[in-house]
Amino acid sequence: MTVTENPTHTARPLPGGPVAEAVFAEITARVAALRAAGVVPSLATILVGDDPASAGYIRMKQERAAELGFASPHIHLSATATPADLLWAIGAYNRDPDVHAILVQHPTPPQLDYAETILAIDPAKDVDGLHPENLGRLAAGLPGPVPCTPAGIEALLAFHEIPVAGRDVVVLGRGTTLGRPLSLLLSQKRATADAAVTVVHSGVPGWERHTRRADIVVAAVGVPGIVRPEHLRPGAVAIGGGVRYEGRRLLPDLDESCATVAGAITPRVGGVGPTTVAMLFRNAVELAERQTGLPAA
Ligand SMILES: NC(=O)c1ccc[n+]([C@@H]2O[C@H](COP(=O)([O-])OP(=O)(O)OC[C@H]3O[C@@H](n4cnc5c(N)ncnc54)[C@H](OP(=O)(O)O)[C@@H]3O)[C@@H](O)[C@H]2O)c1
Repeated sequence: MTVTENPTHTARPLPGGPVAEAVFAEITARVAALRAAGVVPSLATILVGDDPASAGYIRMKQERAAELGFASPHIHLSATATPADLLWAIGAYNRDPDVHAILVQHPTPPQLDYAETILAIDPAKDVDGLHPENLGRLAAGLPGPVPCTPAGIEALLAFHEIPVAGRDVVVLGRGTTLGRPLSLLLSQKRATADAAVTVVHSGVPGWERHTRRADIVVAAVGVPGIVRPEHLRPGAVAIGGGVRYEGRRLLPDLDESCATVAGAITPRVGGVGPTTVAMLFRNAVELAERQTGLPAA
């Protein structure tokens, strides 16, 4: 145990479930407005290969799509699919006016370059917000789909009334899906952002000198247990975005003992994950509204 740990202290939990439910309620109203105008919003998915975890994610997203009133066409390519096969599938969805949002389940088999895959998606249908045009829009502060996990983290902090504006946020990790876009998002001029954001990564030896002074630490790495109590200022808010799966076991970046030091913390299960799914559908409904010229409900 370190000097900062207090075994009798337990941080306030910051569950993502209620955040997601609030977003789903908003989406339901927007889907109803689209349907009333004769538009069925559509989130199309592509799965390459037979990885059970990926197939499970697709199934879960299709079930949620059905609950929310989305159409969810699906293309399943074999594990030996070529880049041309995948480009064909993406092209078919790009050209289909009834498809408003496209998701290619990640990871794809090694013969397929994921960066090239994202480039092939029509930016107007890029539900993950990872096309360089949409990341550029995020950097420029222009409207467009925002990567789902960063958007979910901003919503989670807002929902739980954690002040962000003017505070020190340290993001551990500069990856394209999480750390990098989150740093852009939380430094935007907006009541739920407006933070002083520092990004640290494997190129910053002794990154803990930054996390130790932060009001909010976001772990966005994918190295189980990389953030420990001694990396946090007592009372700081700890957000666990990074995870690694070993089989079905979810191994988070935040060591469980962080709860003995943090003031508030996302739970091991049911923290950032549910907000990511909610933001996926929020992006999807927004893309449908933009493409059809129908305003939000
Ligand atoms: N909860 C969700 O729904 C959700 C959604 C998306 C992603 N994720 C998770 O979020 C994590 C990050 O995703 P990503 O796509 O952004 O990953 P990524 O591209 O692999 O980025 C990982 C980042 O962590 C840094 N890093 C790795 N080892 C480190 C170390 N020992 N010390 C300090 N920094 C280190 C890397 O530094 P370098 O840049 O120097 O290599 C990199 O910036 C993953 O675990 C992913 O599974 C979760």
